[in-house]
Amino acid sequence: MPARPSPSGRARAPRGFCLWLTGLSGAGKSTIAHALIAHLTRRGRVVTLLDGDVVRTHLSKGLGFSRDDRDTNVRRIAFVAGEVVRHQGIAICAVVSPYEATREECRRIVGAERFVLVYVDAPLAICEQRDPKGMYARARRGEIPHFTGIDDPYEPPTAPDLVLTTTGGTPDAHARTTLRHLERRGLLPRVARRSSPVSRTAAERRRRASRATGDR
Ligand SMILES: Nc1ncnc2c1ncn2[C@@H]1O[C@H](COP(=O)(O)OP(=O)(O)OP(=O)(O)O)[C@@H](O)[C@H]1O
Ligand SMILES: [Mg+2]
Repeated sequence: MPARPSPSGRARAPRGFCLWLTGLSGAGKSTIAHALIAHLTRRGRVVTLLDGDVVRTHLSKGLGFSRDDRDTNVRRIAFVAGEVVRHQGIAICAVVSPYEATREECRRIVGAERFVLVYVDAPLAICEQRDPKGMYARARRGEIPHFTGIDDPYEPPTAPDLVLTTTGGTPDAHARTTLRHLERRGLLPRVARRSSPVSRTAAERRRRASRATGDR
C-alpha cells in the first residue's frame, strides 16, 4: 500500500496482520478468502494466501492427517504467516485447523495483536450437502479416512475474534464484515464510504423536510 503521511508528516507504514480462517471443509474459507483478497487489493494491499489445499501440495507435501501431522502443517503455515506479518504484509490462512490448542499456538507464533481468528461456521450437514470437491461423498464411502467432521474431530473455536455464518449472507458480505472488524481493531485504515445516489437522494429529502418544518 502506498505509505500515507501521518499528521506529523512522516509516512505511516501499513500494518501487517494475519486472518486465520478456520472451519469445516466446505464451510467457505477459500471462497471468503478470495472475496477478501479482491477488496484488499483494491485498497492497494498485497495479500499472501496460504490455502490448506495448496500448502499441502508444497510446504507440507508428504504430511498426512494424524493429529501430529495436522499440527505440523498448521504450525508451518503460522510460521510463514508470521514472517509475512513481520514485514507489514497481510497473510490470509484458509485452513481447516481443527484443534483449538494448535490455533491458539498459531496466535502466539504470529503475535496476538496481529492475529485475527475467524470462525467460518456452517453445520456439517450443509457442508456435506455443498461438498464442492466431492470429498464428503468419498469420506462416507470410506475412501478418505480421518476426514474432519466424519471420523475426525473439529473443535469449534471457543473465543474467535469473528464468526461468519455462511448459511446466510454472500461471500462478499462476509468479506465486508471482516474488513469492518479489521478497521475497528486498527489493523486497516478506515475508508470513507460513499453513499449511493439513492441514499444521497434520501438524505437530501430529509434535509429539505427538516428545513421546511424547522425541525433540528
Ligand atoms: N455465504 C457463503 N460463503 C461462502 N461460501 C458459500 C456461501 N454460500 C455458499 N457457499 C458455497 O460453499 C462452498 C464453500 O467451498 P470452499 O471451497 O470455499 O470451502 P472451504 O472452507 O475452503 O473448504 P476446504 O476446507 O475443503 O478447502 C462453495 O461452493 C461456495 O460457493
Ligand atoms: Mg478451501
